[in-house]
Amino acid sequence: AEKWVYMVTAQTPTNIAVIKYWGKRDEVRILPVNDSISVTLDPDHLCTVTTVAVSPAFDRDRMWLNGKTKKHSCEKSVIHLVTESVSYILLIENLEISLSGSRYQNCLREIRSRGGDVEDREKGVKIEKKDWERLNLHIASHNNFPTAAGLASSAAGFACLVFSLAKLMNVEEDPSQLSAIARQGSGSACRSLFGGFVKWKMGSKDDGSDSVAVQLADEKHWDDLVIIIAVVSSRQKETSSTSGMRESVETSLLLQHRAKEVVPKRIVQMEEAIKNRDFASFTQLSCTDSNQFHAVCLDTSPPIFYMNDTSHRIISLVEKWNRSEGTPQVAYTFDAGPNAVLIARNRKVAVQLLQGLLYYFPPKSDTDMKSYVVGDNSILK
Ligand code: PMV
Repeated sequence: AEKWVYMVTAQTPTNIAVIKYWGKRDEVRILPVNDSISVTLDPDHLCTVTTVAVSPAFDRDRMWLNGKTKKHSCEKSVIHLVTESVSYILLIENLEISLSGSRYQNCLREIRSRGGDVEDREKGVKIEKKDWERLNLHIASHNNFPTAAGLASSAAGFACLVFSLAKLMNVEEDPSQLSAIARQGSGSACRSLFGGFVKWKMGSKDDGSDSVAVQLADEKHWDDLVIIIAVVSSRQKETSSTSGMRESVETSLLLQHRAKEVVPKRIVQMEEAIKNRDFASFTQLSCTDSNQFHAVCLDTSPPIFYMNDTSHRIISLVEKWNRSEGTPQVAYTFDAGPNAVLIARNRKVAVQLLQGLLYYFPPKSDTDMKSYVVGDNSILK
């Protein structure tokens, strides 16, 4: 019998939207009501590492999430987004999750249908295009940050799943085409297929083939920026983005106005601000867009509250600071939860910001303090 196991490991960072996606026009294909723009975080922080393995010995598709990792030697190293030279696979029963949901099934089906031939003579591996339909997969995925902390774990997760499977199956699609598959797992995931600044184009086709992510600028373009995430609460959000969006689309008039009249103009302005590294415009657009997204939540019936008093205090402090300096120093944006994503214009400002956060919100323990810093821990030293 064939004994081989063939595997690939990939690492994918999460991304934070500065012009938000909120609302689907097609819930099955995950097609949005407006374009969005995000920044992808540094791959060493807030990322997902996923190992995908295929073997004739596997009797069904299986997946494990956030288990303890056990090292195996890597059968194939992968370029880009991947830094690991070892591969992880975990087979701990109680950490197995179900792959029966339609989002997983759609991603797996789409990627399988694009698989190519794979041959590794040394290992005795020979897989033909048509074999991907019958061969079963083992998937082990690990987030290097708390999954429940409301820090966009699904974005990194589905991007990493699709990227690692594409490598395993020798899929020739470019990152934009792969983004259309990741999108069907979680909308925001499509933007994590690229580093730097990324736009998810809503597209106009019903089949979603033009609803893809494109890179606006790479990670070197504006590398003065420092992103700090203030973890206000690591409790899981009460309203999932899926049901929140559905309720907003059904009940909020502000959402209709936002999608038709506001976001299209902001997208053009944000692209310009990024191109010119114009921090004043970048801040103005990010902050107002985040606030409008939360206003849409409030305009939803029943209303959805993602931010809390601490989030509001952070907004006031940043707004006051920016005004007192005359020119913006820090941009803020909040996703579907109370945690603040703060973007400082440079390293010096980031240090001041961190000092301010520690002063106004003294950490209760050392571990609390660490959770303030994402990006460059050396800032604390
Ligand atoms: O892709 P989802 O379903 O996790 O939705 C993400 C929605 C926001 O994070 C609030 C905004 C965004 O554009 O990422």
